[in-house]
Amino acid sequence: MERKSLGKTGESVAAIGLGTWNMGGRESPDYRDDERLIEAIRYAVELGMNHIDTAEMYAAGHAEELVGEAIKQFSRDEVFIATKVWPSNLRYEDVIRSCRRSLERLQLKYVDLYMVHWPNPRIPLQETMKAMEKLVKDGLIRYIGVSNFDVELLEEAMNALKREEIVANQVEYSLEAREVERELIPFCERNGITVTAYTPLGKGRIPAEAASNTPRGKILAEMAQRYGKTPVQIALNWVIWRPNVITIPKAARKEHLEENAGAAGWRLTEEDYKRLSAAYT
Ligand SMILES: NC(=O)c1ccc[n+]([C@@H]2O[C@H](COP(=O)([O-])OP(=O)(O)OC[C@H]3O[C@@H](n4cnc5c(N)ncnc54)[C@H](OP(=O)(O)O)[C@@H]3O)[C@@H](O)[C@H]2O)c1
Repeated sequence: MERKSLGKTGESVAAIGLGTWNMGGRESPDYRDDERLIEAIRYAVELGMNHIDTAEMYAAGHAEELVGEAIKQFSRDEVFIATKVWPSNLRYEDVIRSCRRSLERLQLKYVDLYMVHWPNPRIPLQETMKAMEKLVKDGLIRYIGVSNFDVELLEEAMNALKREEIVANQVEYSLEAREVERELIPFCERNGITVTAYTPLGKGRIPAEAASNTPRGKILAEMAQRYGKTPVQIALNWVIWRPNVITIPKAARKEHLEENAGAAGWRLTEEDYKRLSAAYT
């Protein structure tokens, strides 16, 4: 699996990882599919998609439990685990408590990347970031990130940190969700911050379009043919085309995992990148 540097840390992470929203339930746990999902997460790691993204909110903690169960057979440095604290838990003590609970569910001593899931205007970022730095100091997390932060908030978060740096901002980015291209991605490029693209397949809408006969679907199909890839691989390769962008598609089916893993390690030409970009604007 192709790897990219994480922020300015010197550490490299998989260009394509695995998302876990909707695994093991949505707002509450659903245990019916556990075995299949644990297998899927393990398979993702075996395919090199070892950057696994989860959150305390996903399935009210059950997604983290599934990740924990899946990864315990691997050595700790074979996986890069990212999780997130929910916006109602951004007070100092709440951040610490949330992180400890996530670690229990994940059966881990530390997480690699801990992110603020969404901003909360009612809680000062200074307070949240103080707790994040304490977690790094105590060895419970390695790196600090944010999610769904615009440039203004990102700068505020960066300024609130005294010793550490924001290494990543996780935001929606796909052929059909392009808002972050205007300001946020260029800002992150200039400041050495990784952009982690979420919902890179538009929750399955992009694969559906790729299989259809729409003008966009036709372009994806034509490029797929030319590169000897699938339309979904073209769409994911487009997402990770910029040097500081990585992504975390969610997939539970074996054939989806294999297809997604094959979307890295090669590049669309600049001409094709621009053509595809234009087709979706
Ligand atoms: N920070 C945030 O606020 C935030 C918000 C949303 C998402 N996220 C993160 O980003 C991850 C990904 O986003 P997402 O789950 O919203 O949507 P997504 O990754 O764009 O789409 C997931 C859907 O696409 C399907 N899929 C995956 N690979 C496919 C393939 N090769 N061909 C056809 N269909 C395929 C999956 O099916 P199967 O499952 O059946 O394989 C699933 O239904 C989440 O799981 C979560 O970790 C973060």
